[in-house]
Amino acid sequence: MLIANTKSDSVLSLFSGAGGFSYGFANAGLLPICGAEINKDACATYEENIGSTCHNVDLSAVEPNFFRELLGAKEPFAVIGGPPCQGFSTAGARDAQDPRNRLIFNYLRIVAEVRPRWFIFENVEGLLTSGHGADVFALVREFLALGYSVRVHKANLAAYGVPQTRKRVLIIGNRLGVDFSLPDETYSYDSGKSKKPSTKPFAPTLDQALAGLGVAARSRSATVPYLTTDAANSFDQLMRAENTIGNVTEHFHSTVAKDEELYSLLKPGQTMKDLPEEYQHDSFKRRAFRRVMDGTPSEKRGGAPSGIKRLHGNLQSLTITGAAPREFIHPHEHRPLTIRECARIQTFPDHYRFHGNAASVTQQIGNAVPPLAATAIARHLQEIDGAFGSGIQTPSCRSEPRLLGFVLTEATGMSEALQKTERMLNSLLQQELDLA
Ligand SMILES: C[S@@+](CC[C@H](N)C(=O)[O-])C[C@H]1O[C@@H](n2cnc3c(N)ncnc32)[C@H](O)[C@@H]1O
Repeated sequence: MLIANTKSDSVLSLFSGAGGFSYGFANAGLLPICGAEINKDACATYEENIGSTCHNVDLSAVEPNFFRELLGAKEPFAVIGGPPCQGFSTAGARDAQDPRNRLIFNYLRIVAEVRPRWFIFENVEGLLTSGHGADVFALVREFLALGYSVRVHKANLAAYGVPQTRKRVLIIGNRLGVDFSLPDETYSYDSGKSKKPSTKPFAPTLDQALAGLGVAARSRSATVPYLTTDAANSFDQLMRAENTIGNVTEHFHSTVAKDEELYSLLKPGQTMKDLPEEYQHDSFKRRAFRRVMDGTPSEKRGGAPSGIKRLHGNLQSLTITGAAPREFIHPHEHRPLTIRECARIQTFPDHYRFHGNAASVTQQIGNAVPPLAATAIARHLQEIDGAFGSGIQTPSCRSEPRLLGFVLTEATGMSEALQKTERMLNSLLQQELDLA
């Protein structure tokens, strides 16, 4: 018989990266039993900040029963994880044959083996159209076959108070037969690119997210004291919490005078394409347009500055990726964002320590699920589940496993590719309803 867990040993974190997802769950009281991750630096970051072991393994090679044996008689509350998205990312080259794409099915096999009450699968929006919809269709069908009730939801994580618009696909399921929703959206947002105006409070802006940080240093080894003793606003306060040393690391840049001059010409929202002709160096143009023309990932273009853009301070940031400190210019200063600023925009608190060189740390941060959004999800699912003694769902809530619903876009129109996915998922919705 499986042993009921306590709140502190109830989550298995796969593809755990720097631990953004895990840290968010830990903040909701759900401390991961362990992480699993192929990258050594990310594993070290995870272990230092989460405090549980990170197994440095290739999840495509590990037998799923490795985790069953590791858990012993424990029945995890949740398996969480975001398998690598590079193969899917619309910002990068898409390759349905990319073996990394198959990692989504490794995740599924581990869920099948350890049978958590819930699974929370996070990915980039490109997953929805990968393989012309076949990948997400296959994944959902398999989760249903395992006995999970599933929702597919494209969410903008700014709606949960993240100072950044970040569209991500969440596939969430439970094997309790319980219907559920996503957490209520608590904020409106606008990054200039994605927006959702409403009467809800505006999510923290970029200026608010960066407030309180001191003047960025010129060397990575420097620690930078806060600008003032008291926090500048509630977001600054949240970021400063538990940072007992009163200064921050990773807050540096190495901008040369020539680039500073160039950046000074950009107004918020402008990109290198808006620069005067004399600054339109050929390589800049090639880089600026290459993403559009052939989808080359910005990471592979090499060399800064590439597709630079100055962010708006009074709006939310654009999505933080591994390229952000090369591409995003500070709203008021003539330099790119620092690594610490990217970490804040991803809602990693200032005491969070990252392992590896600057490129590795930047990638770990860009890959992460913002902890703040993860905490909102974790709290919400605990409330629905009623696990850990806070009340159990009534039997009337229970039903056969089925696709409970899906949201593929918030826009009024839908691309042809997405319409195809919609048709496939609709067929699944229909099938399951017929079965019920
Ligand atoms: C999108 S990131 C996950 C970020 C994490 N959810 C967070 O919130 O910080 C995906 C992670 O999968 C890891 N990964 C890629 N291939 C892997 C493999 N074969 N086995 C284990 N981990 C892998 C990458 O190194 C990367 O850290």
